[in-house]
Amino acid sequence: MSKFKKALFCGIAPLLMAGMLSVTSQAVASGERLYGRFTQDNELYTPRNYREWVFIGSSVTPNDMNDGAAAFPEFHNVYIDPGSFEYWKKTGEFRNNTVIVKELVSVRGKESPSGNGYFPGEFNGIAAMVKSEKRYPDRPGNWAYFGFPEGARHGAIQEDSACSACHQEHAAQDQVFTQGYPVLRAAKP
Ligand code: HEC
Repeated sequence: MSKFKKALFCGIAPLLMAGMLSVTSQAVASGERLYGRFTQDNELYTPRNYREWVFIGSSVTPNDMNDGAAAFPEFHNVYIDPGSFEYWKKTGEFRNNTVIVKELVSVRGKESPSGNGYFPGEFNGIAAMVKSEKRYPDRPGNWAYFGFPEGARHGAIQEDSACSACHQEHAAQDQVFTQGYPVLRAAKP
């Protein structure tokens, strides 16, 4: 590191740390921990620890029940960030900054010692939706929808016609298919 860069770094590092501290303490003060990290263009960095979030439900749309051409032929395992689940338990609403991840899991087969059905195989990618007044003021309901190209560091915001339109028309509450998530319904006050 050149002397100049070192000086710059030493000057900036404490400021950055102070900034991080103030964000953390704000979050603690209001009792709200926020999840998801974003690029400057408000695109969600590929979430990593969502399997430790709150699992709210799963559905499967196998190819053989969809003329061999399901849009997503996998299981869809859905997780909500823990801070938003806490808020949901108090209010029955999706808070500003809600992050929901849908993970796709392939169908491994249709027979198991337990009987016939559809059984999960391998992880096969994710999709996500994020609600934010600040980041997505012009999106319906302030929800942005993300696809994650394989290996990408962050998601790509999708056109409203590609994702939001169907969610707006068919989902039971605020663009989320709560009709398919007994965990959410059971926790609703
Ligand atoms: C034709 C309708 C339709 C379209 C288009 C659609 N979805 Fe969905 N989506 C659903 C349904 C129905 C569910 C409920 C669970 C399931 O069946 O997978 C869902 C669930 C989800 C969930 C879990 C939270 C929730 O709202 O239930 C996410 C995240 C999601 N979709 C993201 C996307 C993204 C990103 C796109 C665009 C690339 C997209 N969806 C396009 C119908 C759609």
